[in-house]
Amino acid sequence: MSAPWLLAMGCVVVASSLFLIKRNMLPHPPGPRPLPIIGNLFDLPKEASWLTYTEWAKTYGDIVSVSVLGQVIVVANTAKVAKELLEKRGTIYSDRPSIPFYDMMKWDWFLATAHYSDEWRTGRRILDHGMRPAAVLKYRGLQIDRTRAFLKRLLTHPEGFRDHIGHLQGEIIMSLVYGYDVQEHNDRYLNIAHAAVALAAESSLPGAAIVNVFPFLRYFPGWLPGMGFKALALKGRELGEEMVTAPFEFVKAQMRQGTARPSFTVDSLQEYDDLGGGPEHAERTVANVAGSLYMAGADTTSAGISMFFLMLLMHPDVQKRAQAELDAVVGRERMPTYEDRPNLPYIEAVCKELLRWKMVAPLGIGRATTADDVYQGYFVPKGAIVLANSWAILHDASTYPDPDEFKPERFLDADGSVRDDPALSAAFGFGKRICPGRHLVDTTMWIVAACVLSVYGIRPAKDEHGQDMIVKPDFTGALVSSPKPFRCSIAPRDGVAEKLILGYVRDKSE
Ligand code: HEM
Repeated sequence: MSAPWLLAMGCVVVASSLFLIKRNMLPHPPGPRPLPIIGNLFDLPKEASWLTYTEWAKTYGDIVSVSVLGQVIVVANTAKVAKELLEKRGTIYSDRPSIPFYDMMKWDWFLATAHYSDEWRTGRRILDHGMRPAAVLKYRGLQIDRTRAFLKRLLTHPEGFRDHIGHLQGEIIMSLVYGYDVQEHNDRYLNIAHAAVALAAESSLPGAAIVNVFPFLRYFPGWLPGMGFKALALKGRELGEEMVTAPFEFVKAQMRQGTARPSFTVDSLQEYDDLGGGPEHAERTVANVAGSLYMAGADTTSAGISMFFLMLLMHPDVQKRAQAELDAVVGRERMPTYEDRPNLPYIEAVCKELLRWKMVAPLGIGRATTADDVYQGYFVPKGAIVLANSWAILHDASTYPDPDEFKPERFLDADGSVRDDPALSAAFGFGKRICPGRHLVDTTMWIVAACVLSVYGIRPAKDEHGQDMIVKPDFTGALVSSPKPFRCSIAPRDGVAEKLILGYVRDKSE
């Protein structure tokens, strides 16, 4: 190689080294002052961390960072920052952090926590196609049917409303994903799925399982004290595998017999018989994606519907206005259907406000960077965990005055028509990993809200002295935020409503 070439290459090496040194010398985004070695370990909130991050934004600004035992965590507190990082720079901000406990359970089938890889991209393609608005449209009949069954269960056993909400959600997802009718009690597939969801909820947060904080512990023998997580991980592995394969095998058997109902799995198997790795790989990919739908969709939608009941209890005025709209547009002789939706702007506004008010996923699901980055003069290292604080975005008082109040009117124009608010999509995340179930959530929440309001009144439960019980709303503070158990009275609005509820007959075609 000639001397000028060597010189030129030398200059490039020196320049890029200087550039890298300079980048590394840039500060991380601002945040509370870290202690040596442990960093901000003691600053990290244990519950409802989105509220603390929102407070920090007032002191440190739109982008905040902390560091815990060397792990940098960056929080985007405005839509602008979240979009610039997670959307515009999506190629390096779309990975998920490693969760050692999930690795031990071998839950690489679960799309929501999967690394940003070719395998994820393939699964996501299948998911986006099968859950696009036009595809979800096909399942409206079953959403209506399962919602009406839910209304009937509420009549016979109103105090079990949280269980009924969980069952409704399970029914909708299992019939949509597998064309499978869940049993009224003790359903085999739902039991497996519930056990897996519960195990995941317990273990996914750093600190919940000690191995997530000290990953090297996974190599210690299981008989040592404190190593109980190893047996739990093994159970999680078996549960995960059963959850993915058991209902999938059910669909395949039905397909062989020619009795399979239309479903996400049937459609996907027909559409993607080879994804470049042979038919077995294609089948396993579809099975993984189908399993991920239940895992990611069940608790979240149940939480959203539970918030709806809590909101009705706290806001009799909203209930009254929504029922007046339903009575005027739909009348009392029938239940609302999706055809009524364009004529019910107040119900629409209630559903929008529900997404914003007490959010189900206020911090979304953490991302991880796959390369070093510099943003607004701050250094964001490769491997940083990045959180989009959708709570801060949707509770910014300059856009949503009185942000903690439930005010559907904020989504209505002066003439009563619905005001579109693209910022609301922050409730479902950003960019490449935005929630693929959002179109299903939209139609499920709407039909449940419209049908419940049309026939039921939600009021305070009575105490032993016949006085109204006062509910202090409280929420679980983890990844999925859901109302803690609360009591309320759920009764048909009148005899006409009761007749409508009882008039439901199962539609076997859905
Ligand atoms: C109220 C209900 C729901 C809310 C608020 C919600 C919210 C979210 C959020 C914030 C994310 C993370 C997005 C990001 O990283 O930017 C997410 C991911 C996801 N959601 Fe939902 N979700 C809901 C219901 C559902 C349902 C019903 C399904 C499926 C049936 C579903 C499937 C998924 C999946 C598979 C992911 C992972 C996507 C990926 O990593 O590529 N979600 N959801």
